[in-house]
Amino acid sequence: MLNFSFHNPTKIHFGEDQIKLVGSEIPADAKVLLIYGGGSIKKNGVYDQVVTALSDHTWVEFSGIEPNPRYETLMKAQALIKEHQIDYLLAVGGGSVVDGAKFIAAAALYEGEDAWNILAKQEPVEKALPIGAVLTLPATGSESNGNSVVTREGNKLPFSSPLVCPQFAVLDPKVTLSLSDRQISNGVVDAFVHVMEQYLTYNVNAKVQDRFAEGLLQTLIEEGPKALRTETKEDLTIRANIMWSATMALNGLIGAGVPQDWSTHMIGHELTGSFNIDHARTLSIILPAVMKVKRDDKREKLVQYAERVWGVTGEDEEQKIDKAIELTEEFFKDMKVPTRFSDVELNHQHIPNLIEKLEQHGMVALGEHNDINLDVSKKILETACS
Ligand code: NZQ
Ligand code: ZN
Repeated sequence: MLNFSFHNPTKIHFGEDQIKLVGSEIPADAKVLLIYGGGSIKKNGVYDQVVTALSDHTWVEFSGIEPNPRYETLMKAQALIKEHQIDYLLAVGGGSVVDGAKFIAAAALYEGEDAWNILAKQEPVEKALPIGAVLTLPATGSESNGNSVVTREGNKLPFSSPLVCPQFAVLDPKVTLSLSDRQISNGVVDAFVHVMEQYLTYNVNAKVQDRFAEGLLQTLIEEGPKALRTETKEDLTIRANIMWSATMALNGLIGAGVPQDWSTHMIGHELTGSFNIDHARTLSIILPAVMKVKRDDKREKLVQYAERVWGVTGEDEEQKIDKAIELTEEFFKDMKVPTRFSDVELNHQHIPNLIEKLEQHGMVALGEHNDINLDVSKKILETACS
């Protein structure tokens, strides 16, 4: 196992009807900015629950954060923060709203020349407003991590700081019942790939992390398709298991002390930046290709994945790996997400532009060995076409 320091500061309130606890988590004298997206929270009753919970607080609202939050939109919140002397942000929504709130929190106290540099130049965040979150879409883990991804003119860039990690998060599985099938699929697949990127590297004998990761993968494989089936769609136990899996997938726990490979995400971000494909649907296209192209480097973990996650038996390692990749693709198909370029109307001709973008964004040494250079990324993209 590698050395690590682990600290996750987010207090989680999990379960039905927990939104009422929001009021007691935010300091009584705080001036709160309630941040949300396109309005789903007004249709499913979450907004009303939050408003009730904030009845003893002074608050104003900022809405309109779009999926894959845009820098221009987020910067509009700054005037409101100044005008109302906001000192606490409450994000209510999916990963885009929580990520957006994180950038707003950092930009509000940024003292440099241009807040975009937090992303473009990876300038460290020195200060940020505190954040609380009410999660409505289990997927990203953003509710209890310090990561955020922001888009500006086709450039989708991540930043990370412990200062923007939410202080608390409310996870009520009931609020996920209003999600469309597409968003349920996206969430399950995003969480699945988060686990894979902290698991499918090389063996460092981190038994706890490996077995936690395998448990999360198996839970998502078991419960994900059920959340799409008419008979089990409304089952809150299924929703609860998916929701907690998604949080645990990216709250730092399974990634502590193990090598990580975020190449699928970094290449996927370019597909979203250039072609506006949903985040998770880029991952389901890229991950199988990464598994194929990096098969030799990842051999030991691929065999472990085949045996322990999918129960593949037999003597021949090559066959086990083939089977594991095939089953992963089948799972993605069951979750109704694409696995090839052609599924999203892209082809070989789009690869040069994506490679150019990866280069522009400094994504030239990805993977657990930093050896996914632009040539390897090209191979991955070509494999995703075939
Ligand atoms: O905007 P509203 O009206 O709320 O609608 C949203 C949005 O249209 C809707 N939605 C959310 N909760 C709902 C709901 N509709 C009905 N009922 C509910 N309960 O779903 C749509 C998609 O929401 P979004 O927040 O964009 O989805 P997701 O949670 O998948 O977030 C994706 C973003 O997170 C980033 C992605 O890159 C992408 O920008 N990520 C953030 C990460 C992190 N912070 O750690 C890691 C991830 O890998 C990812 O990169
Ligand atoms: Zn993701």
